[in-house]
Amino acid sequence: MNQIAAGEVVDRPAAALKELLENSLDAGARSVSVDLSEGGVRRMRVVDDGAGIDQDDLPLAVARFATSRIATIEDLERAATLGFRGEALASIGAVARLAIVSRRADAKHAFRIACEAGVVSPIEPAALAAGTTVEVEDLYFNTPARRKFLKSEATEFARCEEAFTRIAISRPQVAFALAHNGRRSAHMPPEGARERAARLVGDDFAASAVEVDSQGSRARLAGLVAAPGFTRANRDAQFLYVNGRFVRDKVAAHAIREAYADVLHHDRHPAYVLFLEIDPALVDVNVHPAKSEVRFRDSSAVHQFVFHTLSRALSTPGVHQKPGTGPGLLPGGQPGSVPGFAFPQQGAFAMAQPASAYASMFETAVADERRVAASAAEPTQSPPLGYALAQLHGVYVLAQNAAGLVVVDMHAAHERIVYEGLKEALDATTLPSQPLLVPISVTATPEEIEQATNGRAELETLGFDVAASGPRELLIRAVPALLADLDASGLLRSVLREMGEFGASRVLVERRNELLSTMACHAAVRANRTLTIAEMNALLRQMERTEFAGSCNHGRPTWVQFPMADLDRLFMRGR
Ligand SMILES: Nc1ncnc2c1ncn2[C@@H]1O[C@H](COP(=O)(O)OP(=O)(O)OP(=O)(O)O)[C@@H](O)[C@H]1O
Ligand SMILES: [Mg+2]
Repeated sequence: MNQIAAGEVVDRPAAALKELLENSLDAGARSVSVDLSEGGVRRMRVVDDGAGIDQDDLPLAVARFATSRIATIEDLERAATLGFRGEALASIGAVARLAIVSRRADAKHAFRIACEAGVVSPIEPAALAAGTTVEVEDLYFNTPARRKFLKSEATEFARCEEAFTRIAISRPQVAFALAHNGRRSAHMPPEGARERAARLVGDDFAASAVEVDSQGSRARLAGLVAAPGFTRANRDAQFLYVNGRFVRDKVAAHAIREAYADVLHHDRHPAYVLFLEIDPALVDVNVHPAKSEVRFRDSSAVHQFVFHTLSRALSTPGVHQKPGTGPGLLPGGQPGSVPGFAFPQQGAFAMAQPASAYASMFETAVADERRVAASAAEPTQSPPLGYALAQLHGVYVLAQNAAGLVVVDMHAAHERIVYEGLKEALDATTLPSQPLLVPISVTATPEEIEQATNGRAELETLGFDVAASGPRELLIRAVPALLADLDASGLLRSVLREMGEFGASRVLVERRNELLSTMACHAAVRANRTLTIAEMNALLRQMERTEFAGSCNHGRPTWVQFPMADLDRLFMRGR
């Protein structure tokens, strides 16, 4: 079984719940109801009306690596069901008291099997109308070390709710219900995708979202994406499913963000519910114990497919400014009166860094001119992007290199250089902190308070000084100096959430890079600025240092090569 990534399948109640819900969906359930007690730790019950499990198959269901779904490795590659490892129930049964009662439509009555800390009890007859009921009690009762890692009841329940929501969004045709400690927290009938999204993502999102449906040769992308005016301050409303599974995928996320690039401010996040259906042979779902990450065989093809589909959808006339759907972000980047939208001010740092990066870029210009003269005598020494010839309409730099003509988008190229430079400059240091004259008090949920208290040291490395000042209140005494102009409480909230989800380092890197890219855009040379030949050569040299140093060229190109052969063909030379 070493084709299967071994690992912890159930690291917390939400993970167990996700597995049980997926099993219900795999069994074709039309209705699934969930009852949790004490954050799912004390008890978790999932009742479905699916196909049920045969009496003879019950012992297999709780045996590790027994699955009704996969016979060969080839099957694994094209798994159409959410489950394929035959590991989930056995893993749960190993760390809890698990009981399954199930009845197939053709059976006279139901059967029950139990598994407690890995010990399977004999099957016995039981009563149940149809489908399957799985009950998990006292999670981690036999593994105190794991139990210690559990967060508060509120946090564990919130995670369960999140897992539940992700699954409910993906199957609008299935009815779902959720209760916690006897109190009903969600109840939804079978409905359309837009209705389900309205319920779980938000009415404003669903009302304005643009429908996407694009069929490629081996993939299809369908779903709802926010109209540009309905972006969010955080990534909460991003639901991407690959072959029916909720995943976090950098490739698709990047493509989506690129598609919004012209209509979205750096500080805002797109909202979407997207389903990518792709030939299972082209995607590896077996890279993460919870199957929450995938690896595409050809990630650049996926990137292009997603990017083009969304670009097309977002550029459809009427999308940017739907009458009556509220203010949009104009392509020019002017902020509309979007609630909560704060246009970042450029602080002292924001100005100083790019300005010096810009100045140093031109310092090399003189030296380069000397090399231009030298290389005229020695043409083989020509640098990859060659030497500038002229500027076209204040937008493009034309250059000659060994292969032919190079055309550079001046603003895009400089933006990239400034951005990479800033990133590099900051990589070594931790974020400086800026104390607030008047501390900001923020109402917070118990989970947020817990996250802030436990993660105090991590927060400090990010430049935050935060303390609980009441049962539902946090006090921000200092903020990261670089981000001092942004909405501090919103920033803290997303930091806390992401710290819980991904760990501190990732938050630091991602938020910071977003901010830097905003700064870089503001600082980069604008189109229509006349450059001297020396300045243009300096730009080319900086590009070589930046782009050829291995940083990949995301999204829009900064330069294009026109080889001599292509030009010759245009003019039918040498035919
Ligand atoms: N709610 C259910 N209704 C019907 N059959 C179920 C249900 N839950 C589990 N089963 C059966 O029990 C088997 C084992 O489930 P388990 O979740 O452990 O493995 P799996 O779903 O096959 O793979 P994975 O470990 O990837 O989830 C399933 O293959 C399925 O046949
Ligand atoms: Mg399963």
